[in-house]
Amino acid sequence: MTKVHAFSEVSVHNKKDDCWLVISGKVYDVTSFLDDHPGGDDVLLTATGKDATDDFEDVGHSDDARELMKKYYIGDIDSSTLPAEPKYTPPTPTTPTAGSQGSGNLWKIILQFLSPLLILGAALALRSLYQKE
Ligand code: HEM
Repeated sequence: MTKVHAFSEVSVHNKKDDCWLVISGKVYDVTSFLDDHPGGDDVLLTATGKDATDDFEDVGHSDDARELMKKYYIGDIDSSTLPAEPKYTPPTPTTPTAGSQGSGNLWKIILQFLSPLLILGAALALRSLYQKE
C-alpha cells in the first residue's frame, strides 16, 4: 500500500542526513543520493520543505534521472496539506469616488493654468510699479 504523507511530516526532513523531496505529488527520500546527485546536494537541500516539482522540471532532468527517482520513492503527498502557491495579486487600484477625483482634477487644472498667469500678473505689476518711479 502506498503511504500518504502529510506535508508537515515531509518538510521536517530537510537536513543533509535526512532529506525528503516532494516532486509531482510523490515523496522521495534522497538522503543516500545527496552525495551522488550530479547537480550537487545544496540544490536538493534547498528544494526541501516545499513542492519541488517546478525546481525539478526547470532543470530538464533526463529520462535516466526520472528512472533513478523511483529508487528513492517512499510514498505520495497528501495534496490537501501542501501550502498554497504564493500567487501574485496585483495591487487593486483604489477607485476614488467620482466626486473627490473630479474636484481634485479640477483644482489641478485650475492651478496649472492659473499659476503662470499669476506669475505673469505679478511680473507686470512689478514692472509698472518700477516704471512709474
Ligand atoms: C529524486 C530527485 C532527483 C533525482 C533522482 C535527480 C537526478 C539527477 C541526475 C541523474 C542528474 C544528471 C543530469 C540528468 O540526467 O538529467 C541531475 C542533474 C541536476 N539536478 Fe537533479 N535530481 C533530482 C532532483 C533535483 C532537484 C529537486 C533539483 C532542484 C533544483 C535538481 C537539480 C539538478 C541540477 C541543477 C542538475 C545539474 C544539471 C546540469 O548541470 O546539467 N535535481 N539530477
